[in-house]
Amino acid sequence: MDPYDEPYSVKALFDEASSDASSSETLLGSRKPARHYYGLFFAFNIILFSLSAMLFLVSGYRLMELRDPLDNGVLRRSSEHSPIFDQVHIPFVEISRNGSFITPPHPSIYRQDPSPEVDAAWNRLANINTVPMSSEDVRKLGVDPLTTARYPAEFGFGDDAHIGRLDVFHQIHCLDNIRKEIYFDHYYGGRFINDIPTPSHRAHVTHCLEIVLQALTCSASVEPILHYWVDIQQMPFPNFSDKHMCRDFDTILRWQEEKSVDMAYFKSTVRRPDNVQIHHMSQAYKDALALNQVAPNTPESS
Ligand SMILES: *[C@@H]1O[C@H](CO)[C@@H](O)[C@H](O)[C@H]1NC(C)=O
Ligand SMILES: *[C@@H]1O[C@H](CO)[C@@H](O)[C@H](O)[C@H]1NC(C)=O
Repeated sequence: MDPYDEPYSVKALFDEASSDASSSETLLGSRKPARHYYGLFFAFNIILFSLSAMLFLVSGYRLMELRDPLDNGVLRRSSEHSPIFDQVHIPFVEISRNGSFITPPHPSIYRQDPSPEVDAAWNRLANINTVPMSSEDVRKLGVDPLTTARYPAEFGFGDDAHIGRLDVFHQIHCLDNIRKEIYFDHYYGGRFINDIPTPSHRAHVTHCLEIVLQALTCSASVEPILHYWVDIQQMPFPNFSDKHMCRDFDTILRWQEEKSVDMAYFKSTVRRPDNVQIHHMSQAYKDALALNQVAPNTPESS
């Protein structure tokens, strides 16, 4: 039914009501007050209906809050399921971005040339440690828990612990990979014959480029950048030092550091069990991974 028809059906109701009323109202010798009476009655019903609809919505909202004591409702609605939603409240925070175009005298650690301190800072954020997830978590992602890898008993998580990772840390790992490409000589000098990266090295970098691009287009910040006039040119200059509404990354990083499994321990302990479903990789994967001399059982091979 065309919603624009609505006023006419309301009018028809009115007409019907008043013509129904007319037979009895004529006994009283007056039709005008009757019209008035039905109009009031109708308005009263509309108000009553709106009120109960409002109460229904409010109580529904309260119920949803009770079911989500950590108050991650906004996040849940803008994300696929994550085990972190059931464990910690992730606040939204307004961040003042430091968008200096030229390198300032004391640039942030992430902007500095390679050094052990810079590597340590990036490594802390590019934390690709794994975290345990339940079968219920896996099912909430629409995935059959029989197809996903679990931690062996040695990890002490029980037999319902699937191996997971929070996407943001892999995204940062990828950004770090692209950063290292800018300082190719420092990070990869002498590693390749004639300094020509292998196809699998290139594959890793372009894989990362696409991962970061997809992360950006997925979160798709539409917060506008304003401009100001400057003395050195006719064109206005963009002000990148602006405010952004962000998921509180410190909360997420703290959770990751508390709950995740140390990578060295993971690598030395995790082994493919005998009685599990095995996915057969394509020849292209086998060639690429053999070139990189990555043993087929390490987490990097996926
Ligand atoms: C941005 O960073 C530079 C250098 O670290 C600093 O001097 C400046 O005060 C910062 N600006 C803001 C708005 O935080
Ligand atoms: C850039 O925007 C910030 C935040 O609104 C403001 O504090 C700052 O003064 C702006 N810079 C210029 C040069 O207008």
